[in-house]
Amino acid sequence: MVGDHVALIDLVPLDAPAPAVKVAVFPSAGLGTRMLPASKAIPKEMLTVVDRPVIQYGVEEAAASGIDQVVLVTAAGKGAIEDHFDANHGLEAALEAKGNAAGLDAVRRAASLASIVSVRQARALGLGHAILLAEAVVGPQAFAVFLPDDIMDGGDDPVMAQLLRVHARFGCSVIAVERVPDDQTSRYGILDVIPVSDRLFQIRHMVEKPALGTAPSNLAIMGRYVLTPRIFEALRATRPGAGGEIQLTDGIRALLDREPVLALEYVGRRYDCGTLLGFLRANVELALRDPELGPSVRAMVNDALGPRD
Ligand code: G1P
Repeated sequence: MVGDHVALIDLVPLDAPAPAVKVAVFPSAGLGTRMLPASKAIPKEMLTVVDRPVIQYGVEEAAASGIDQVVLVTAAGKGAIEDHFDANHGLEAALEAKGNAAGLDAVRRAASLASIVSVRQARALGLGHAILLAEAVVGPQAFAVFLPDDIMDGGDDPVMAQLLRVHARFGCSVIAVERVPDDQTSRYGILDVIPVSDRLFQIRHMVEKPALGTAPSNLAIMGRYVLTPRIFEALRATRPGAGGEIQLTDGIRALLDREPVLALEYVGRRYDCGTLLGFLRANVELALRDPELGPSVRAMVNDALGPRD
């Protein structure tokens, strides 16, 4: 592993905060094969967690973190995502006529979280390729990336807001990480790091989905990133990696000898809605935590767990 390390670029705090990040890219073109049959005719990003589609949690987190434009990278069959975040005047008029204020509010809210632009990924060439397609909209500014499968519950401090504070201080790319057990490292991008301060690390090396037993650490990339625009140049030069796809992890690794890249062990809870069990867990835990639904859901779960004749 040591041979792969590049000389670390000096990490220097900025004199003034970096410009605020205003744009977020949501790669949403994946087939969702782990969620079949539910995702056969419905984009996996649109499956319901409690009362809203999975992807809305990410867009809400973006809005709560000060982001005002969302770039969806979609594919054939994903039109429902664009519709969800668009206005629906017919539906609004019907709800208004019925006096359904709560429904009207929910419908309008989904359309007002951010301004939405979408680009298409015609072929499934990988996460890195999806990010590269957003360049035409993002341009030469730092931007956020949200993998919509990951719902991040940061409580009062959204996980993206935590990353953005680090970016404001140092001006460089910042990746959300969490420690995972040894037997799960092969599912993630894994980092080799040196500590900077509490929960903050500078990345020395990174590898996408290392074979079991070869991971450089237990620090795994989770679905939130802040990236500098240099990533586009790096991705253009990135060849297919793990799974034959152009990997974002490989593109970020190519940045390491040009600028510091940081990893933040965020505070919050992640739900991996790209797997059936993670999706079910998100539904159960977030429903239990909902102030209105929580008590009835708890009673329902207790009843289901209780003695049966
Ligand atoms: C992607 C990234 C990987 C990251 C993971 C987090 O993988 O390539 O580095 O650890 O998301 O969920 P995917 O889950 O799309 O295979």
